[in-house]
Amino acid sequence: MFMEKTEAKVLYMNGSTTTAKSAANGITLPSAPGISDPAGDFNNGRNKTIEKAGESELKKLFCILLNDVYNAEKRLLDGLPGLLAAATTLKLKNAFEQQLKQTAAHIARLERIFELIDKKTQVKKCSAMEGLITESKSMIRDSKEGTIIRDIALIVAAQKIAQYEIATYANLNQMALISGLTKSAEVLDSILTEEESTEELFSRIAEILISVEAEERNGILYWNA
Ligand SMILES: [Fe+2]
Repeated sequence: MFMEKTEAKVLYMNGSTTTAKSAANGITLPSAPGISDPAGDFNNGRNKTIEKAGESELKKLFCILLNDVYNAEKRLLDGLPGLLAAATTLKLKNAFEQQLKQTAAHIARLERIFELIDKKTQVKKCSAMEGLITESKSMIRDSKEGTIIRDIALIVAAQKIAQYEIATYANLNQMALISGLTKSAEVLDSILTEEESTEELFSRIAEILISVEAEERNGILYWNA
């Protein structure tokens, strides 16, 4: 049976005071390849078979992603009240309230983009957001009501959601720019900036809550498994 008592001096999350005992114990970790910079080797002869997609393929992908994120925002609008109701601290409740208003505004801005490109919205289920909302509900079920741990669990769920949106908006923004959709790119950039701010807000609240939880444990966490 695996038995470990881990002591970690905890945790102000800026890295300076965190001590990971497992690292100090000299545990050998499985190696992973480093990430190379893709800029240098794109045209090194290995891409000869790439076919030119043409403008229509780019437009098609842009519309698919736009409809996907439109549906994602609508699902989020439906799901956020549940997260808000489940939160323990006022800080997190306020953050979810802010995100709820922001999400309604993002839906309206996406509708503006559909107008700008003269396309109708299409019904497209965003399976990723559906999964993320389902996961957030299981985070609620698996954490005790009225605790800081509940809020930390909710923030993990909320950050996954925000990061999914950031990935989509960042790419949509780039695609709009290279397509000459200047106004749409501006709208997408405004949404992206707000998603990034929201993600940072959740990160900051997580740091605060983890510090509070750590202080309640006198700075020491014991893990027995
Ligand atoms: Fe959003």
